[in-house]
Amino acid sequence: MTPVCLFPRQNKNKLPPKQICSVDSLPRPTLIDFHGVSMTHYFTSNWEKIQSFQARPDDIVIATYPKAGTTWVSFILDLLYFGQTTPERQTSMPIHIRVPFLELDIPSLLLSGTEMADNLPTSPRLIKTHLPVQFLPKSFWEQNCRIVYVARNAKDNAVSFFHFDRMNKVEPEPGDWNSYLQRFMDGKMVFGSWYDHVTGWWEKKQTHSKIHYMFYEDLIEDTGREIDQLCHFLGLSPSVEEKERVRGGVQFDNMKKDNMVNYSTVEIMDSKISPFMRKGKVGDWKNHFTVAQNEQFDEDYKKKMKNTTLQFRTEI
Ligand code: A3P
Repeated sequence: MTPVCLFPRQNKNKLPPKQICSVDSLPRPTLIDFHGVSMTHYFTSNWEKIQSFQARPDDIVIATYPKAGTTWVSFILDLLYFGQTTPERQTSMPIHIRVPFLELDIPSLLLSGTEMADNLPTSPRLIKTHLPVQFLPKSFWEQNCRIVYVARNAKDNAVSFFHFDRMNKVEPEPGDWNSYLQRFMDGKMVFGSWYDHVTGWWEKKQTHSKIHYMFYEDLIEDTGREIDQLCHFLGLSPSVEEKERVRGGVQFDNMKKDNMVNYSTVEIMDSKISPFMRKGKVGDWKNHFTVAQNEQFDEDYKKKMKNTTLQFRTEI
């Protein structure tokens, strides 16, 4: 039995895990149908607390479908807000503590996401969620919180999710790539259908001015420009030097070697199977999709996305 600690020891006085147990004792979950969305119990067992979560007006929500660049944008926001005032955060606190994952609930391993968010000492609080728009706790809407949504093209998103499910022991067994891709198209993924997720948030953005909708591909193309737009949305005006510092700090190679953001301290993830910071590219899907899979995917995509104005780039 390998002892596991989701938090490095030096952090235990800041936010200790609830209990230390073995990752081996956690079975891979199976998908359940939860109000019409595929989920696992790790994200639904704390549902009442999630739904009654009390937001504050200055909370910032980072909402994404899994594997769309959540950690990247979380780190950008963390640096923009706290990079200068509390630089020690960067060297002592893993990103999943700085930016709690609201709906995560693995009671034998760690504090729930809602407890971690409740305990955050920062202002603003940065809070991550993968919930589809209809599940976001109503308090965030009532408090008119700013929400940063990040979307990534379906093909790269599916590939990244596949490798993540291989290495993350609290995700359902991924099976082989072909069946995985079919399940992705069928929306039988944790947090449901990619198509519903990205379009649901997109539709909401049309009537809600506090949502900033970003694309992974744009971030890859010009991180500095995206940071500028993010600052504009957040009402921040860092100096040119500070913005440049953030832009440099969040480059893939820097994040990959930074143990505080690359999830190497999280033992539910086995980076020997596939590292969390895997490739960080647009177009890696071409190394995974066969010609037949691509044709079938494109045909299905057109049908599923025919009623939305949302457009993605699968190469840049
Ligand atoms: P890949 O698996 O394609 O490499 P999330 O944080 O939502 O789980 O998303 C993880 C994906 O974002 C991974 O994609 C990861 O490599 C990528 N990513 C994280 N930080 C990045 C960065 N600074 N630049 C480019 N991609 C990044």
